[in-house]
Amino acid sequence: MSELTPNEILLSEDQIRTRVAEMALEIRRDFPDDLHLIAVLKGAFMFLSDLVRAMPGHVSLDFMAVSSYAKGTTSSGEVRMLKDLEIALEGRNVVIVEDIVDTGLTLTYLQEILRARNPKQLRTACLLSKPSRRQVDVKVEYIGFTIEDRFVVGYGLDFAEQFRNLPHIAVVGP
Ligand code: PRP
Repeated sequence: MSELTPNEILLSEDQIRTRVAEMALEIRRDFPDDLHLIAVLKGAFMFLSDLVRAMPGHVSLDFMAVSSYAKGTTSSGEVRMLKDLEIALEGRNVVIVEDIVDTGLTLTYLQEILRARNPKQLRTACLLSKPSRRQVDVKVEYIGFTIEDRFVVGYGLDFAEQFRNLPHIAVVGP
């Protein structure tokens, strides 16, 4: 077990629930008919689950898993695909669902490979954004909360695979 523990709630369950419900309606408004959501594992699993439950109408889902090579030691943006999609994107209205955009390298890579599969439209929804950490200018149409550069966990986000199960988002400190 790590010495570090989440010691300050940054975003409460209530704040997250309210904002995620708003995002769900906003996305639905933009895509009232066909809508295909792609969640990026593992961090996005809780966000996706609340997002789709707050979304009226039909929506299809798929999952992909990626891992960045030597994260933190390189800015190459090289990302390894651990699990690919199962459903084709051709002609679909696709929204990538991510927990956080930090440097922007992961999303830049994902948008590039998914755009190559010819969706009708491709947009991105991120629960959290840390703009001060950005290394590349990536477009994210739906952002839940803009936060400062603090290490956050919970609601899907981990520190060494811990704390994903917290129902809120907390700051980790010694
Ligand atoms: C996190 C997050 C994004 C990425 C964002 O994933 O889910 O995929 O980092 O960082 P970037 O903007 O600097 O590229 P992580 O590698 O922690 O994997 P996880 O989702 O399995 O926790």
